[in-house]
Amino acid sequence: MKTRMLLGAVMLAVLSFNAPAEDMALAPAHDAIKVLKREEVSFREDVQPILHDYCVSCHSPGGKGHAKSGLDLTSYEGLMKGTKFGPVVIPGNSDTSTFTKLLAGTNRGLKMPMGLNAAGTLDRQYILILRKWVKQGAKNN
Ligand code: HEC
Repeated sequence: MKTRMLLGAVMLAVLSFNAPAEDMALAPAHDAIKVLKREEVSFREDVQPILHDYCVSCHSPGGKGHAKSGLDLTSYEGLMKGTKFGPVVIPGNSDTSTFTKLLAGTNRGLKMPMGLNAAGTLDRQYILILRKWVKQGAKNN
């Protein structure tokens, strides 16, 4: 019950945060909704720009996410290699992949990107793009 109320509050926070159009200034140059309508998500064209804008500041050599977890998100190879404890992407399964699980904050209280904003989550469209890419087999396309 408590968890459900908390989830409700988080959803509300996310929804209200995403409401104003000015937030789109944070968006990568492509149109996320168009990507979701397209059949196949591309790592290079769709996934990498999101990682670039929201993750590599910490997940590249010298960044604190890289220092703590070993996860380097500057390349496909780095993402697929995962952390020093092992892979974070399970191709075909966006529910069990830590990479996509953490975007909704459902793994050991960790949420990525760390400290993004009050709601603490990526734009829902971006989460859906990343999940779709994992579901489609996490290809180097
Ligand atoms: C402000 C810095 C920061 C940003 C931005 C950030 N991370 Fe992290 N990330 C961290 C830190 C620090 C850790 C190590 C957390 C720990 O183990 O306590 C981490 C760990 C992780 C892990 C491994 C968790 C585990 O179970 O060991 C994944 C996966 C991850 N981040 C994905 C992402 C993704 C995807 C993004 C972008 C959407 C992102 N991070 C953005 C700082 C960041």
